[in-house]
Amino acid sequence: MNATADPALFARAAALKMLNAALSGRSGLNETASGGAAGRLTPVDRAFARALVMATLRHLGPIDRMLDSRLKREPPPGLRDLLRLGVAQLFYLDIPDFAAVDTTVALAPERLRGLVNAVLRGQIRDGPPALDTAFLAPAWLFARWRAAFGDGDAHAIAAQITKEPATDLTPRGVIDPEMAAQLEVHTLPGGSLRTHKRGDVAAWPGFSSGAWWVQDVAAALPARLLAPTPGQTVLDMCAAPGGKTFQLAAGGAMVTALDRSEARLRRVDSGLQRTGLTAQALTADAATWADDRQFDAVLLDAPCSATGTFRRHPDVLWNAKPSDISALSSVQNALLNSAARRVKPGGRLVYSVCSLEVEEGEAQVSGFLAAHPAFTLDRILPGEGGSPIASLAPNGWLRILPHHAEGGLDGFFIARFRRDAR
Ligand SMILES: C[S@@+](CC[C@H](N)C(=O)[O-])C[C@H]1O[C@@H](n2cnc3c(N)ncnc32)[C@H](O)[C@@H]1O
Repeated sequence: MNATADPALFARAAALKMLNAALSGRSGLNETASGGAAGRLTPVDRAFARALVMATLRHLGPIDRMLDSRLKREPPPGLRDLLRLGVAQLFYLDIPDFAAVDTTVALAPERLRGLVNAVLRGQIRDGPPALDTAFLAPAWLFARWRAAFGDGDAHAIAAQITKEPATDLTPRGVIDPEMAAQLEVHTLPGGSLRTHKRGDVAAWPGFSSGAWWVQDVAAALPARLLAPTPGQTVLDMCAAPGGKTFQLAAGGAMVTALDRSEARLRRVDSGLQRTGLTAQALTADAATWADDRQFDAVLLDAPCSATGTFRRHPDVLWNAKPSDISALSSVQNALLNSAARRVKPGGRLVYSVCSLEVEEGEAQVSGFLAAHPAFTLDRILPGEGGSPIASLAPNGWLRILPHHAEGGLDGFFIARFRRDAR
């Protein structure tokens, strides 16, 4: 059958390409969902394809366990992804069984259609895959979370993987009540706004005038905890796409925003234009930036494995590798050493990562303090900036787990340091 002639097949064929690209780490889901085959879909079909891919990724562990028990050998490349989408349609989207089976069979190569039909019909007889939270994440990651946080928290983290998150916004200033009503937002501790609205955020009221930007409530904490006073100088070392730069600039700080990626820095520039905020945005490697200025406050929101962002990017879990975590922890260490040189005596440094991994969080703090005796931990206070009480570690840093606030939030690690005044 020609997939391009039938919109139902075309949307699923696009979902197949998206899933394949997302799982092979070639591009993020957002990029894949707007380009290529998905770019030629109607908005309704594109939303369906995206929802199908997200449902598949959010249940990938149980789906794969079920497929492994049913398939005698690994299917040819591409077929596993097609079967994954078929199973997701059967159990996680509101699609009649016959439609899920017929469209999946139609997209399979002719010689494999019998196999696809048998697998899906067998699964309809057996019912949905068992939903044991331990299998929602890759086994190696779940084992790490269990070792780092204990059994209960590891299960609670994994239980968030299947949940579709709301959208959080950071307001530039005070949002007027009429706009708040149109956005259907409620205010979260710290001042972020949360909405369950869906659809194209660029079409929402206040987007084009820069009244707010999309930013997870946890991602809004590092800049709030740095808390520069108006007129203070701030260096945002890894700034793109810019949410934290905008917060710092909106608070009246004089911000220098670096990012190594010119393409990503363009997003900072366009966000500054949209919001009417001011910052100096520079393309530079923050580890080696040849500028000897020192700043009142430095924010290092470092590149990381991003395992804490799985609520919106479940593919990160399946693309992450243990070797990435050790490579990234070396990068973080080099960036922290560079950050230390750029803080004025008496100034503050906030280090953050959207990772759940200890090497990228707690272990960086001990390494940094040992190497830089002029710095001490500046303990974060209970609830400071709207941070969840459950996230405050005894040492005074935040280890934010995705279940620490009602409705969920991204996993983050945040520590604040102060440099001696001498
Ligand atoms: C976690 S993201 C930053 C998110 C950003 N702070 C925000 O709130 O929107 C990490 C960023 O670090 C940048 N990056 C990675 N290595 C870098 C380096 N050596 N110097 C500067 N930027 C770097 C990446 O291009 C990426 O944009």
